[in-house]
Amino acid sequence: MSEWAALPKVELHLHLEGAAPAAFIRGLAAEKREDISGIFGKDGNYAWRDFPHFLKVYEAACSVLRGPQDYHRLVLAVMEESAAAGVVYSECFLSPDFCGGGDPGAWAEYLAAIREAAAEGERSCGLTLRGIATCIRHLGPERAKRAALCAAETAGDFLTGFGIAGDETLLTPADFLWAFDCAREAGLRITAHAGEWQGPGGIRDTLRALRPERLGHGVRAIEDLALVDELAEAGTVLEVCPGSNVALGLYRDFRAHPIHELDRRGVRVTINTDDPPFFRTSMIREYEELHRAFDWDEGQFRRLARQALDAAFCDADTKSRIAKKLEG
Ligand code: ADE
Ligand code: ZN
Repeated sequence: MSEWAALPKVELHLHLEGAAPAAFIRGLAAEKREDISGIFGKDGNYAWRDFPHFLKVYEAACSVLRGPQDYHRLVLAVMEESAAAGVVYSECFLSPDFCGGGDPGAWAEYLAAIREAAAEGERSCGLTLRGIATCIRHLGPERAKRAALCAAETAGDFLTGFGIAGDETLLTPADFLWAFDCAREAGLRITAHAGEWQGPGGIRDTLRALRPERLGHGVRAIEDLALVDELAEAGTVLEVCPGSNVALGLYRDFRAHPIHELDRRGVRVTINTDDPPFFRTSMIREYEELHRAFDWDEGQFRRLARQALDAAFCDADTKSRIAKKLEG
């Protein structure tokens, strides 16, 4: 067992469908007699070539997730994996586009099943889960509006935030202003994927247009040290996913990843897995690789877990309950 397994962890950036174990998706496909064998490699894991292909494989995997009951099962499977890696609190991205096709009534049913599974999972694995609704950038602003309306109607103690994922190279953040204003007015906290496939310019555009408290990835800020200083000054939190970035080829390996330098320069970084089975990672593997690359020790990991909890979107009571677990 890894020396890092038992250390209590907080994860803020996990796509629910992206966390679906390959065996789980294969099992659902078999039950429904659907052939999606093309998305798996010989080893049974997801197989993809590059980011656009990853998004296609991801969507094909999602195609067998149909109905609230499938999501109920998915949540339990994902929580088991996360809890086994020592995660005690997790925020996961939920997509109204995948859960009910943007229809508010259908979304409410999916969300009820997800929430019920989260409560069941909390009792069985001791992990607290919260949801962040996301729109998908490459589906365009109209679909994002529908996603935001779904999210706004269900904002509360479980659904705490709104964000945007998908292909960052398409459209601009300002195209999604209506959706983000709608979500913000409903009391949802804001995060946005940026600085993964676009450099500092894309991050600045996102900060200006969508005013997020947190950025999904954000790591390419390192290409502009003035921007790094601005992020540090503003306290913007980066949901960094080093293993995802290495798997997708942004950086050669963990040693070449900017997380250490961003942290050193005072940016509030956190450690996350993004889509763990797609990138053959887990929170334990992230810790192991960061320890190996930068000699990060238990004190550093505990500090970053605390930093992640401070940046979590849940209410104060939940935070103080989780804080006790981090101290243990
Ligand atoms: N959706 C799932 N994973 C993603 C990633 N790494 N970037 C953008 N959108 C995503
Ligand atoms: Zn992501």
